[in-house]
Amino acid sequence: MTENVQQAEEQVEELEEIDLTAANEVIDKYIDIHGNLMPVLQGIQEAYGYIPEATVHLAAERLNVYASQIYGVLTFYAQFHLKPRGKYIIRVCMGTACHVKGAGRIGDAIVERLGISHAETTEDLKFTAEYVACIGACGMAPVIMVNDATYGSITVQKTAEVIEKYKAMD
Ligand code: FES
Repeated sequence: MTENVQQAEEQVEELEEIDLTAANEVIDKYIDIHGNLMPVLQGIQEAYGYIPEATVHLAAERLNVYASQIYGVLTFYAQFHLKPRGKYIIRVCMGTACHVKGAGRIGDAIVERLGISHAETTEDLKFTAEYVACIGACGMAPVIMVNDATYGSITVQKTAEVIEKYKAMD
């Protein structure tokens, strides 16, 4: 480990108890490339599932940019997440077609079953729920997605079954 990397790690280690090895590997990969901030942040998110605060400061130190610049990028692009997310991302479509067909009731069912609402994650990091705009499957409204799987004509009862199915999975 170079002295610079060690110094950067020492400065951020008080922020969060997190293993920075993966973040350092991502930074090492892109450090000499112009315009490396986006690929570094994408790589860090891929490695951790979100962008831990300590990695923001590590990247700032090692790429010689202000942490505030990095936070600017992170808050501008919806693809980045600053908090841990669930293994299963439940997206509840709240577009017009789904809304008129009872998407609100589906959202309520998720709150009731998992105790989480929009943009929240269960404590066991298994589920994150998000309300989203039209996902382009209006013919099957109301619709939810769990990761890449789409569930159309969903009802409160079916929502419960879908959640139980994923609960039973690792
Ligand atoms: S409004 Fe829900 S899929 Fe289009």
